[in-house]
Parts: sequence; C-alpha cells; structure tokens
Amino acid sequence: MMYAPVGFSEAEYPRVEYQRRQQFWDPIRLALFTLTIVAIIGIAIGIVTHFVVEDDKAFCYLASFKVTNIKYKENYGMKSSREFTERSHQIERMMSRIFRRSSGGGRFIKSHVIKLSPYEEGVNIFMVLMFRYPSSDSVERIRKIVERTLYQSLKINQFPLTISKPSFRLTPIDSRKMRNLLNSRCGIRMTLSNMPLPASSSTERIVQGRETAMDGEWPWQASLQLIGAGHQCGASLISNTWLLTAAHCFRKNKDPSQWIATFGTTITPPAIKRSVGKIIVHENYYRDTNDNDIALAQLTNRVEFSNVVQRVCLPDSSMKLPPKTSVFVTGFGSIVDDGPTQNKLRQARVETIGTDVCNRTDVYDGLITPGMLCAGFMEGKVDACKGDSGGPLVYDNRDIWYIVGIVSWGQSCALPKRPGVYTRVTKYRDWIASKTGI
Ligand code: ARG
Repeated sequence: MMYAPVGFSEAEYPRVEYQRRQQFWDPIRLALFTLTIVAIIGIAIGIVTHFVVEDDKAFCYLASFKVTNIKYKENYGMKSSREFTERSHQIERMMSRIFRRSSGGGRFIKSHVIKLSPYEEGVNIFMVLMFRYPSSDSVERIRKIVERTLYQSLKINQFPLTISKPSFRLTPIDSRKMRNLLNSRCGIRMTLSNMPLPASSSTERIVQGRETAMDGEWPWQASLQLIGAGHQCGASLISNTWLLTAAHCFRKNKDPSQWIATFGTTITPPAIKRSVGKIIVHENYYRDTNDNDIALAQLTNRVEFSNVVQRVCLPDSSMKLPPKTSVFVTGFGSIVDDGPTQNKLRQARVETIGTDVCNRTDVYDGLITPGMLCAGFMEGKVDACKGDSGGPLVYDNRDIWYIVGIVSWGQSCALPKRPGVYTRVTKYRDWIASKTGI
C-alpha cells in the first residue's frame, strides 16, 4: 500500500506559502546561490592544492660575500682540511639561523660552502643557497626576498661572523650547475629529487640492521666482485676513481683484471659497473694479526658523481671520536654468521668502543692495535658480518659523512663482548695521500 498523509490534499495547500516558495527560488536567486557554492568549492580546492599538492621546486643561488672579521688560513684552500670544514659549517649554521628564523623559514632547504678564498684582510665566501618555492614563482622575486631576509637579519642579530653587506651577490643557478657545485664536496647525501637527505634514523644491525630505505643513502658504498664468483667485499668511493677497502679482501686474488666494482643499493642490478685497473695493498698488512688491513683499488674508468654515486670524506689524521660515538656501518654482507650475501644494501647503527675497553681480557685481550678501531655494542646483537669486509664505517658530522673505519674482523658476528673491529682510517690518512694524492 502506498503511503498518503490523511486529511491533506494539494487543493488545500495554502496558496500564499506556495507563492513565497516560488519567489525564493526565482532564477536570479538560484543563479547567485549556485555561483556562491561554486565559488566556495573553488576556493576550498585552491586552498587544498596550495597546501597539499602545490608543486614546489628547488630554487638555487650562488652567493658570494666577504667576511671581514676572520683571517684567511692556508688550509682553507684544502677542502678536506679540518679548518675548511669547520669554517664552512659555521657559515652554513649561520645561514640556516638567518633563513629558518625568517617568516618564510620553511622555504629554506640548505646552504653549502663551495670555496673560501683570501680577500684583503678577510675571507671571500662562495656558497650555494637552496630554497623551496612554488615552481610558478620567479627567480628574481625570490632573490629579492632572500636578500631582504639576510639584510634584515644582519641588522637585528649578532653573529660571530661579520658579513660585508655591499659585497653580497646572489646569482641564480640551475639545478645541474648546483649539483656540480655540490659535487665539489665529499660526504654529502641527496635524494633523487636533489633534496638533502636527513640524518639516518635509528637502526638495528647488518646482523640485525635494516635495508637502506633510499637510493643515495650511502652513495659511496661499492661492491667488490671477483668475476665468476660474485660479491666478495665492500669498498668506499673516495674520488672519481679510487676505492678504499680492506687488504684481506685481496688475500686470495690481487689480480686487478679479475675484479669489478659496482655501485648502487643492489648488487643486481647495479647502478654502475666498473673494472678495476690497479690494486694497492698496504705493505705492512699482516694476515695473522690483521694489522694494517687497508687497501686501495683504482677503477679503469672514472665514475661521475650523482645523487646515487658520491664520494665519502676522508677524516683528518687528527680527528678523534670519543667512545660511544654513533656511527653507521653498511654492507651487502650476511645477516647471520656464515649466511649468504644480501642483494640489497643494509645499514646498522653502532657505537665506537674505546681501545682500552676493547683490549680488556674479557673482550679482545690485547689484539687491538693502534691501527684498529672497535665499534658495536658490548651486549652484541648489532654488527657487521661476513661479506661486509672492506666496507665503510661512517660518522655524520653535521650532514657531512666521514669514513672512520673499514670493516676488518671480529670473532663471529654480533656476539656479546665481541664487537666489530675496523681499520682506523685516521691512522692511514697519510698512507692514502701518498698512494692516491687525495
Ligand atoms: N672478515 C669479514 C669479511 O671478510 C668481516 C668481519 C667483520 N666481522 C664482524 N663481526 N664485525 O667479510
């Protein structure tokens, strides 16, 4: 049965009301109403797009300016020197304070010192500044904003470095030029979209580590492979042609023509493949004690640096890491004692252990020489393992990565009181320079 309200028919519907309704929805009102709705929806979509899908792009500038209250030092000319690195960091920190504090703070991506050169009484600084703005924005407009922000900040804030305002120049550069400029510095990680990679989050082991999350996270990592036998060792890129690795990797075979090196986060497929032209094993490598477990391999053809292939910084021989410093080890090695090689690169966070502790009778009982460095945990669990040998132990100094160790040996893997033992790279800094000129 159909439902019909009792005692109500259309004829009885009050006329006046009916007319009022008709008037309310007259064509003009209807049009206005529709327009309003459309406008509201339009604005809402606009707002959402603005915040969510806005197409941001990196705007890069080369900045040059003079700092008048510091004196030029000889070592500023050497990018691997501590003086250059520390001064550059100071300038970069200052830039990030200036731009992060400003209203458009979220727009600042990073700054990077490229060169320090002498200028009268002071120092000339060349650096790259990177900002994130909608791709529709103009380079000129952003340049003005950046200049204004800097000038204002210099007026208000007290900084340890005095920038001469009239010397400040800002030149837009395209992202290719920027990449080339950034590539003039070692130890820098970038995402595929040219954004800097953040510091690594907490991780577990290679034995108990995790797969690396992103391409380009450890761009200096290489796999050294024997033709026909596959992955043998890890290695680290320290220039366009030189790899740093462990001497014991070449115990069985030191004929360069039998070796290849690959780069990228997987062994198959590799991002890049190169043949090896030269192998230099430390003259005083002793297989019985593992002392001086360091070697160099030179590629026959250079690799070009990119976001996925990059060189790691070599530390000054004077660099010291206190015990319990957080460092990362990476490799394609097994995740259990005597397990198979991993196709995907893995990483683990470990901590440096003082040689005094590592040489204790209940630990390695005096086997640790001055050329070795222990890292891991006394309770075990996290460690490098078989196949990680030759690979890097790296230290993150304000987003610049230094190779401080080379995976060398250990009693089994990840056992309590048996941490990983690494070649102490600082001790061989001069040896590396004498063989490679780096
Ligand atoms: N010697 C091993 C190799 O050839 C690496 C040993 C590292 N061991 C350790 N427990 N950290 O791959």
